[in-house]
Amino acid sequence: MQEAILEIMSTPSLVFQGVAYLIAAILFILALAGLSKQETASRGNRLGVIGMAVALVATIWVSIDFSARFGSAGKGYVTGILILLALAVGAGIGIWRARTVEMTQMPELIAMLHSFVGLAAVIVGYNSFFLQPGSESSENAFHMGEVGLAVFIGAVTFTGSIVAYLKLSGKISGSPLILPGRNLINLGAIIVSVVLIIWFAWTRSVGIGLIPLLLLTLIALALGAHLVLAIGGGDMPVVVSMLNSYSGWAAAAAGFTLGNDLLIITGALVGSSGAYLSYIMCKAMNRSFISVILGGFGSDGAAPSGAAPEYGEHTEVSTDDVAKMLTSAQSVVIVPGYGMAVAQAQYPVAALTKKLRDRGIRVRFAIHPVAGRLPGHMNVLLAEAKVPYDIVLEMDEINDDLANVDVCLVIGANDVVNPSSAEPGSPIAGMPVIHVWDAKKVVVFKRSMGNVGYAGVQNPLFFNENTDMCLGDAKASVDAINAAIE
Ligand code: TAP
Repeated sequence: MQEAILEIMSTPSLVFQGVAYLIAAILFILALAGLSKQETASRGNRLGVIGMAVALVATIWVSIDFSARFGSAGKGYVTGILILLALAVGAGIGIWRARTVEMTQMPELIAMLHSFVGLAAVIVGYNSFFLQPGSESSENAFHMGEVGLAVFIGAVTFTGSIVAYLKLSGKISGSPLILPGRNLINLGAIIVSVVLIIWFAWTRSVGIGLIPLLLLTLIALALGAHLVLAIGGGDMPVVVSMLNSYSGWAAAAAGFTLGNDLLIITGALVGSSGAYLSYIMCKAMNRSFISVILGGFGSDGAAPSGAAPEYGEHTEVSTDDVAKMLTSAQSVVIVPGYGMAVAQAQYPVAALTKKLRDRGIRVRFAIHPVAGRLPGHMNVLLAEAKVPYDIVLEMDEINDDLANVDVCLVIGANDVVNPSSAEPGSPIAGMPVIHVWDAKKVVVFKRSMGNVGYAGVQNPLFFNENTDMCLGDAKASVDAINAAIE
């Protein structure tokens, strides 16, 4: 027996796989390090792609080699053809989606992709159970426990991500679903799941083991949906990054089930970096981390109201007047938001920045951590339009300096510049925002006065004395300002 194991361990393809997995793991860590800064992000991305290619080649080679070595040459060919077919279909769909997806649809695409990871963990868990059912030894009971955990995390991730996808794409309402006693429901579901995993780990046959496994799957599916349904629209950014973390842990759990070290490492990297990102975002939005992980636990669950309180009259301004305002300013700050992404106004905004800087005017950008619809959304758009990194500042770096700014242009941002976040009871209460109202003059670009921001609250900023509204599509408006500055 021991000789057979030694023979398997020393097959050339397995030795190659071990080395390749180590190289891939190092490349993934370097990729994450690169992605932490804009300047090194594309190098990080390339390293990640190379790491994934190395891992894929090693995995495919071992699968084909083992089918041929322990089956027959014919089986090796069949395995190779099946894997290549699956790769071709997956890569085809992936390339098509990557080319057609709008930047603004990225969060929903990411949520959808997380659901696949969750589903894969559930399928791997079931497969592993059918191959090796029953706990004849305590070692196998441990393995069964891993399978139960993988299925649980995978199922929670699966339905949680689908609900997130439906909310983000507007297919279901973004308002939180507040069931009576929802915290007790979640707690009860977790306790019952733990009991079911223990029961499952000690079952001795497929017939009996299937009962706790199916019950566990159903409860985890319901729990995942309930956790995300309970979270309001304004907190969805954190949920997307939490689900990213869950999908990492689901992959790591599947790695344990399959005995695949690279999957464990990669899953742990995704799981921990996603959890850390969620923590940073929670801090930026002044939300309790635990509350968001536990599906709105502890929040009062106030649903955003679309009704606009009376804030008085707003004043409108023409693009020609904005051009005059800008050319006579010394210091300008631009706050971009989701509307800039929708309008694809980053290119004319970059051109406007260049024109103003060429005239000696100081131009800076103020970026809120959850502006747009995905982490780093605004940074990506500005980098795409080649805005220099050194004038792109974080909210905390610029908030205190806004009082010295002559003109602040709010381009398609709303929630992230909403002063009502200081009012208790508001759906965005407590969320730090960019204090644009401190600037001497504020110009807000949006299409109409009728629409509210993502969180569904009216913005009193629009009615301030020092605020003018430049209504219309952001790209058309900035194009017109550029033309006026010629
Ligand atoms: P929002 O609050 O969503 O406001 C977008 C603004 O853009 C609105 O004023 C909208 O007004 C305007 N707009 C839309 N299309 C436009 C166009 N073509 N031209 C000009 N203006 C246009 O955006 P925000 O301030 O960036 O805040 C982001 C929100 O999304 C936050 O509530 C955040 O929690 C949430 N969220 C963020 C993420 C991440 S990770 N960033 C993920 C999911 C959700 P009109 O419709 O009148 O034009």
